[in-house]
Amino acid sequence: MTVPNNMPCKDNGIIGSAVSSAHPSLALIKYWGKQDGTRNIPATPSLAVTLDGLTTKTRVDINRPVDGRKEPDRVFLEGILQKEDRFAPFFAGFRKLTDTMKPGMGRFIVTAHSSSDFPTAAGLASSASGFAALSCACAAAAGLELSAEELSAMARIGSASASRSIYGGFTRLDAGSHIAEPLYGENWWPDFRIIVLELEKGPKNLSSRQAMERTRLNSPYYQAWIDDSELLMDRSLDALRGRDLDALGPLIRNSYLRMFATMFAADPPIIYWKPISLAIIQLCDTMRSEGFSVWETMDAGPQVKLFCLKNDVKAIRNRLIGELNDLNIRICRPGGPSSVQNRNET
Ligand code: PMV
Repeated sequence: MTVPNNMPCKDNGIIGSAVSSAHPSLALIKYWGKQDGTRNIPATPSLAVTLDGLTTKTRVDINRPVDGRKEPDRVFLEGILQKEDRFAPFFAGFRKLTDTMKPGMGRFIVTAHSSSDFPTAAGLASSASGFAALSCACAAAAGLELSAEELSAMARIGSASASRSIYGGFTRLDAGSHIAEPLYGENWWPDFRIIVLELEKGPKNLSSRQAMERTRLNSPYYQAWIDDSELLMDRSLDALRGRDLDALGPLIRNSYLRMFATMFAADPPIIYWKPISLAIIQLCDTMRSEGFSVWETMDAGPQVKLFCLKNDVKAIRNRLIGELNDLNIRICRPGGPSSVQNRNET
């Protein structure tokens, strides 16, 4: 990862710096659709697990503007400067917080460098880990002592799934909610495993934001998806409480397939799937018929992730390698919360 780790020397222009990291939040039960279309308030409840094997690291420097000049906040992902508008609502929210909590801080400019050890914008929940890490680093660099709830609300402004990545283990984000909630810590289900299959490295051509909005505005199945979502969530919470993968698995499958059904029905349709995605879905079905409890899910991209238990990992992995070529396979466990590694506040 290419995030500079050395803290700058204190000088008049620097307000503070911090480095933080976070893991993606992979939904078992999906959030898809925003209540009002603009703020990231989910229209459906989601249930997710934070993944230990994938990490985003972000460094934030907060400076006073040189000679009072008006300069934009800048975010570099893997060294590439990102479009301002994607981050503008997040930084507006951050400024609102600093105005309230540190009114003496005055005007400032944020520069962020972020890097992940997995492909970004490709359906591997990089926006979740990205905005969670950015929130922690911004708060630490500004010297704001925020609770996990406050960080979760801040991360949500960037991306709703990021509100879950603030916490480790299993989390929920309810429909209409501003903050995610931790349900069970990362050690609560020691045998639970997530197999992440990296099928495509390139970024997707339609962001989840755009796709969600198109679905909300013109998919005739959207309302049915919303109506169904609370029942699916309640049943999943029961299955998770019992650490019962055989009960949870079919609900995981219902959730992602119903989410995609709304996308396929949008106009124009949204199709993230690739032939290899479908091949893996079908292979999971075959493995289930042979007695494995293995359940696939997908997000806004072609990647497929599988849920299973520790004892089955080896056999499932061998089967995947045996049947499909060139798979990049990562085995993850439930991971820990986002954290700050380094901080320097003037
Ligand atoms: O938070 P966003 O904008 O990255 O959207 C996440 C959407 C899904 O990954 C498809 C589902 C989810 O709950 O994470």
